[in-house]
Amino acid sequence: MHIDHLKSLRPLQGLIITDVGAGDGVYSRELDAAGATVTAIEVDPIKVAKALTGLPRTIDVKLGAAEDLPLGDKSQDLVCLFFSLHHVPSNVQSEALEEFHRVLKPTGRLHIVEPHPYGTMFDVVRLVEDETEVRTNSHALLTGLDGRHGFQLVDMKQYVLTREYPTFEFFVEKIILPDPERRQAYEANSADIEDTFNRVKESREGRVVLHQPCTAFHYSLTQ
Ligand SMILES: C[S@@+](CC[C@H](N)C(=O)[O-])C[C@H]1O[C@@H](n2cnc3c(N)ncnc32)[C@H](O)[C@@H]1O
Repeated sequence: MHIDHLKSLRPLQGLIITDVGAGDGVYSRELDAAGATVTAIEVDPIKVAKALTGLPRTIDVKLGAAEDLPLGDKSQDLVCLFFSLHHVPSNVQSEALEEFHRVLKPTGRLHIVEPHPYGTMFDVVRLVEDETEVRTNSHALLTGLDGRHGFQLVDMKQYVLTREYPTFEFFVEKIILPDPERRQAYEANSADIEDTFNRVKESREGRVVLHQPCTAFHYSLTQ
């Protein structure tokens, strides 16, 4: 869904793109498949190691942070962040914006998608990691970015990301247990989390569906 929306704004074939906060690289892979030359940047060395073994070799996977990008000046056509800005510590988010500006070509674009602090996915995940404040702050930062830090808002679109899981146990294994802090919170409160999951979930063809509303912000450079 993220990449389909991005493609509707700009053809990706032949572009030089960096995916910042790439995680295990699920969207880097889609950008690569769309014909872009992709660098996946991730701050967590464990995820970098996983991405290095799991992603196509055409994707350049680098250990690095949004606030200190391992990329040259004016080297990128597109800088993308999918659900990662609110993870960048608030005291370095301005530096990260400067870095996005530094590495973009004058004709380049910045594309940031952030989840809202609501939706059925949020209702469940909030019980193990409450991101209300960081998500609210990142949306405020992005809606206020038009005309600041050298960026101009070209497009803003809200859509709902739908995630499907075969069972509650699968959801727990995939979304909660890999993170030690989430795991601890889950172990302390598993009954409440399962109750909430069962209360808010939708069912679709034998699978469980959760929804995560998000907004995609797309900026050009003003200077
Ligand atoms: C919710 S995950 C999103 C991963 C991927 N973009 C996706 O949508 O599947 C957020 C990612 O941002 C990374 N991250 C956190 N702080 C970062 C920073 N300062 N610079 C770059 N990435 C960071 C995390 O390690 C994590 O992999």
